[in-house]
Amino acid sequence: MLDITNVYKSFNIGTPVQKDALNGVNLHLDKGDFVTVIGGNGAGKSTMLNAIAGVFSVEKGNIKIDGHDVTREQEFKRAKYIGRVFQDPLKGTAGDMWIEENLALALRRGKRRSFSWGISSKEREMFVELLKGLDLGLESRLSAKVGLLSGGQRQALTLLMATIKEPKLLLLDEHTAALDPKTAKKVLDMTDEIISRSHLTTLMITHNMKDAIKYGNRLIMMDGGKIIYDVSGEEKKNLHVSDLLLKFEQASGGEFANDRMMLAK
Ligand SMILES: Nc1ncnc2c1ncn2[C@@H]1O[C@H](COP(=O)(O)OP(=O)(O)OP(=O)(O)O)[C@@H](O)[C@H]1O
Ligand SMILES: [Mg+2]
Repeated sequence: MLDITNVYKSFNIGTPVQKDALNGVNLHLDKGDFVTVIGGNGAGKSTMLNAIAGVFSVEKGNIKIDGHDVTREQEFKRAKYIGRVFQDPLKGTAGDMWIEENLALALRRGKRRSFSWGISSKEREMFVELLKGLDLGLESRLSAKVGLLSGGQRQALTLLMATIKEPKLLLLDEHTAALDPKTAKKVLDMTDEIISRSHLTTLMITHNMKDAIKYGNRLIMMDGGKIIYDVSGEEKKNLHVSDLLLKFEQASGGEFANDRMMLAK
């Protein structure tokens, strides 16, 4: 479903502050893989997801989604394959629009602008069912402005919007990091449920090592713009946080440095 081959990406090339963020990344994901991504600050995790989404072009290498070579495709063109949720709850939704308008927008993604804005009763029924599944009481608030929702409610809605069309690839960049611990757990469990229900191929960056072990069928660790550790199946399930720290030290020759990761419970 995803093939990344030998991808390099640098910022500020040729200046004293040049940063080589991706240094030959290779990654192959099978359909239905749910991969958690961890690593120190500046390891290249977000850059890898941004490279896949086409936020910028890469200097070298090749990116394929479900067999389509998207390496030279612009962000809006490959958006049809990808659902994304970021850390900032304000990013994925339109705050001055209603809940149902946001969902309709997500449903019409990739369609012509001239497409009718009317929401059919069938669509409304579908939205109610989806919102019921979140168990946040949003199903009775279809015409509430999204800007009035809490961060957790808004992130849950963003998740619905990102997955409503069953994307070939779901990219989550610390999407629960800005939420309080209880809400974060709820949104994370919701994420897990949606992913397994639709067998979505997913990359989820998290700063919480326990979550990285608990969720998904595979875990990758990044450092210095490379994938330095890749573990799946039973071996992943049996990992402990201490194993991850040891692996990091062995593979990188240094201590694991990620302020948020070290503080996460
Ligand atoms: N747009 C940009 N311009 C310049 N440098 C950038 C840009 N985006 C990322 N970088 C640099 O590339 C490196 C990798 O950053 P990236 O955001 O991918 O790290 P990360 O692994 O997501 O870290 P964190 O855990 O802190 O989110 C960092 O040194 C960062 O400063
Ligand atoms: Mg990041």
